[in-house]
Amino acid sequence: MIIGLALMASHSTVVAKTVSVNSPNDSISISITDDNDRPEYKVLFNGKDAVLNSRLGLVFESLGEFGSGFDIIDTSQSSNSSRWQQPWGEREWIEDNHNKLSATLSNGQYQFTLEFKAFDDGIGFRYIVPKQAALNSTTSLNITNELTEFSVPDAHNATAWWIPGRGWNRYEYLYNTTSVNKVDRAHTPFTYKLASGVHLSIHEAALTDYAAMVLDQRRDGTLKADLTPWSDGTLVKTQPGFKTPWRTIQIAEKATGLLNSDLILNLNEPNKLGDVSWVEPGKYVGIWWGMHLNENTWGSGEKHGATTSETKRYMDFAAQYGFDGVLVEGWNLGWDGSWFHNGDVFSFTQSYDDFDIDAVSQHGATKNVRLIGHHETSGSVTNYRNQMSDAYDLYKAHGVTQIKTGYVADGGDIKRVDENGITRHEWHDGQFMVNEYLHSIKEAAKRGISINTHEPIKDTGLRRTYPNWIAREGARGQEFNAWGTPPNNPEHTAILPYTRMLSGPMDFTPGIFDLAPKGLDAVNRVQTTLTKQLALYVVLYSPIQMAADLPRNYVERLDAFQFIQDVPTDWSQSVAVAGEIGDYVAFARKDRASEDWYLGALTDEDARKIDIKLDFLSPNKQYQAQIYRDGEKANWKTNPYDYVIESKTVTAKESIVMSLATSGGTAIRFKAL
Ligand code: NOJ
Ligand code: CA
Repeated sequence: MIIGLALMASHSTVVAKTVSVNSPNDSISISITDDNDRPEYKVLFNGKDAVLNSRLGLVFESLGEFGSGFDIIDTSQSSNSSRWQQPWGEREWIEDNHNKLSATLSNGQYQFTLEFKAFDDGIGFRYIVPKQAALNSTTSLNITNELTEFSVPDAHNATAWWIPGRGWNRYEYLYNTTSVNKVDRAHTPFTYKLASGVHLSIHEAALTDYAAMVLDQRRDGTLKADLTPWSDGTLVKTQPGFKTPWRTIQIAEKATGLLNSDLILNLNEPNKLGDVSWVEPGKYVGIWWGMHLNENTWGSGEKHGATTSETKRYMDFAAQYGFDGVLVEGWNLGWDGSWFHNGDVFSFTQSYDDFDIDAVSQHGATKNVRLIGHHETSGSVTNYRNQMSDAYDLYKAHGVTQIKTGYVADGGDIKRVDENGITRHEWHDGQFMVNEYLHSIKEAAKRGISINTHEPIKDTGLRRTYPNWIAREGARGQEFNAWGTPPNNPEHTAILPYTRMLSGPMDFTPGIFDLAPKGLDAVNRVQTTLTKQLALYVVLYSPIQMAADLPRNYVERLDAFQFIQDVPTDWSQSVAVAGEIGDYVAFARKDRASEDWYLGALTDEDARKIDIKLDFLSPNKQYQAQIYRDGEKANWKTNPYDYVIESKTVTAKESIVMSLATSGGTAIRFKAL
């Protein structure tokens, strides 16, 4: 580790300081300076500018700015080289090698500390405002501005893949691809590529009791932290003795370097739940797609989906084909009428007359299939909070170990009733909701239940600390293909791995086999080939994966369905082996429970050939490669069902050339022989 401390005479009488820290292999170098009478940092990657001099600081309503006028008065450094085990995940062991630099700053009255960690795959930094003599430790502090900036070199020639921040549709947008200077206000992970070819992604880690950071472009290339406010305009309500989430920047030469990074998880705290053997990765089916296709309804009536008999039918199907769970949406009172607009009428304990929770859970138990719970709040979080204990107890009593929650409401329209009985409207990613989501995780954990949050707060790696936060949505998922508003375009899943997926597992719900129930020319159809749907199981990591289509569509294509039955959801290793953002991606992952490897490769609207070396396989083994690929005449628009299933024996010394159709994909199981 190299730590430099350079003393220079500055324009004032104060002696300015610049302190720096390098990553373990010296590829990344961070310096912090108070040279301009305020704290700033910059980052070099392989000796070249990665982040230009960028401002740091926090503004408090009652205390003013912690930034300008503060000087570095003390620094300390340390190194870490360790590894830790994930209870479930895309790899079993994670290396945490970094050098840390802490700088304490003071304006003579108050103090705060900047903590920077340099890893070989990026950096993290956070603010710590300790309890201190000049501050009553119970004083409430309101943050009115976070001054953190990320300054992008040559922004006009850098490309960004981004979705708008603070929009009505939360994180559920198609991605924009523009030069960085054209970005307005964007969510993180915010991924961009410099003119030099270096890839970066700005995000945050361990977002608890703080507002989410959106990025707002000020002058061209200057992206400023823009914290999502409370309904009263305050950004964060806190007290002395707090730490902000880590501000993170992943940095890699190649696009795949971003995918092979564990930076976000390394900046989260270890598991706080103790024994989490009850958190079970797995695969599920559900009473779900039929509602999105309008074949069924969530509400009561003739087309009601969540009936006892339909649930039993799904449970039988699940048992026959090896799925562990059946999600049932629309079982509880409150769906009739305009459920989107009236979350206050949901009951989370009373079911419709045609749904018998005792009968279905007993039926499931005889088949080793669990009921997966569902709670749609429509954003009425006080109504949910008031029933949460009873609702979770009810599910626990019926052997439910996983609940999908939902917060369907426009951005800024979460409805809460405050302590004075006044209704307030909050953002999904403000501090209030950050705490609300975590509250549900902790309450569920007490009952051995895992949570899959839809319309969530973005993931910041909290699954390390709370491993029962098993997945979430937080991007445009498969459902948009049923609605056609508009459907996901062919490049969507070639962008997601490099953006949303950097934050953690996504419940995308892959596996639609009837790609165009309304015809190939309909707007609401899936814009992929069939084997691209299979590739998604390997590409879009989640410890729980849904087989999202209707059972009858799987029965029709049992040959392709075999891959969905085989593919695991818990891995001992994962490697992104090829890819470019928005064009294509290929992942190889090793099953945690066997010696088998799996590979998923997919492309955007362009057909392409990719040559993949199989050197990830064990060197002295033979494998039967069971290949599910696009047929020679396949294309997503007019011929998406043309696929070939073939197998051959391979070793680590070989390569496979994959021909991907337009919006096509290949999925392979390498069965160890
Ligand atoms: C939106 C979720 O993403 C979807 O999966 C669910 O079916 C509906 N909300 C209803 O809760
Ligand atoms: Ca959704």
